[in-house]
Amino acid sequence: MSKSISPSSCRLINARLAIVASSEPQFGTTENGYVEITNGVIAAVGDMSNLPQNTGNEIAEVIDCKGRLTTPGLIDCHTHLVYGGTRQQEFEQRLTGLSYEAIARSGGGIKATVAATRKTSVEALAQAAAERLDCLLAEGVTTVEIKSGYGLDTKTELKMLTAARKIEEMRPVDVKTSFLGAHALPDEYAGRSNDYIDHVCSHMLPAAAAQGLADAVDGFCEGIAFSCDQIERVFKAAALHNLAVKLHAEQLSNLGGAALAARYGALSVDHIEYLDQKGVDAMAASGTVATLLPGAFYYLNESQKPPVQALRDAGIPIAVATDHNPGSSPLLSILATMNMSCVLFGLTPQEALLGVTANAAKALGLKDRGVIAVGNKADLVIWQAKAAVDLVYSLGKNPCHTVLKGGRVVLTKGED
Ligand code: NIG
Ligand code: FE
Repeated sequence: MSKSISPSSCRLINARLAIVASSEPQFGTTENGYVEITNGVIAAVGDMSNLPQNTGNEIAEVIDCKGRLTTPGLIDCHTHLVYGGTRQQEFEQRLTGLSYEAIARSGGGIKATVAATRKTSVEALAQAAAERLDCLLAEGVTTVEIKSGYGLDTKTELKMLTAARKIEEMRPVDVKTSFLGAHALPDEYAGRSNDYIDHVCSHMLPAAAAQGLADAVDGFCEGIAFSCDQIERVFKAAALHNLAVKLHAEQLSNLGGAALAARYGALSVDHIEYLDQKGVDAMAASGTVATLLPGAFYYLNESQKPPVQALRDAGIPIAVATDHNPGSSPLLSILATMNMSCVLFGLTPQEALLGVTANAAKALGLKDRGVIAVGNKADLVIWQAKAAVDLVYSLGKNPCHTVLKGGRVVLTKGED
């Protein structure tokens, strides 16, 4: 395995390629394939039997994958990685039987993190988030989405998004940001949730958009958060600023948030344990991705499962993400998340892999990654594995061997 790979030209050989672009509706596998990379972009993909016979020195480096599974770089398409403080105390409270909703209603939960985040500098937020992100990067994540939503005032929301953007300079990763001002009601607006939504729409969201800090707009539609009418106002404001939308919906109850989000062409609707057939149909009609977050389901010890078979039947792309946050999902493993999506929700290993590659890219509106295809970014992971099932079989095992980010090796386990 080569150590210093030039980003200008590189070739992977003898690779078992998964999630390869194909003319079939499903993505393909190439048992013994090659990938050619030029200037950080995939320039050619094929079977070793068709390997171009280069005679000159145009290929600077060759990586022999020795039959290892090679996938697109993984994409964690739903995280709250930037925040101040932690919430171990709440974790312990829940273990004694207190519910997530009860803790939230008594001033803990998201509000506790808001207080800590307001007090933390942008540098400290970015540093702590980058250290958390290292756990994900070690497992082959090359793109991560990060939300605001623990500021709930303009200054802190912008600070969180600025911290998220900074992480791209600190680690070999692409960060996509979502403005989540409509995450919870801050104490200053207690009893005045409509006034808060006015403020989100007329000040916070326009400020995030004006500074180019938000790639999308998210919201939390739930009894403990905001109603469909309130979220609709946020979506209208997002449209005014040409920002795509997504939504946390039907996590703890069914308010119809998914159908609302679908009406606004949402990139994704996330959680969806309580999604009904009406919501499924609406999402199918709008091409909205269903993002499953098994970490929150697991930590909150929920029993209502997302309607996976209905999603499949409707042809809805299913993404899978950590939802890393200090409260409902302090999970920092994309591989464990994939495992949970299989064990808890019944996805196949191949569906779990699609959920953190091709479908996660769709959930972020990214067309240049998530699939091994000519023209896509050369974000690739070589695994000490033969098949998707090897990535999810053993909790705690990390078979990540080598990670290429934009054609450059950013992590490798060595020569063998
Ligand atoms: O995605 N559902 C809302 N927001 C987060 C939880 C945030 C928190 O508890 O701090 C989630 O699960
Ligand atoms: Fe979330």
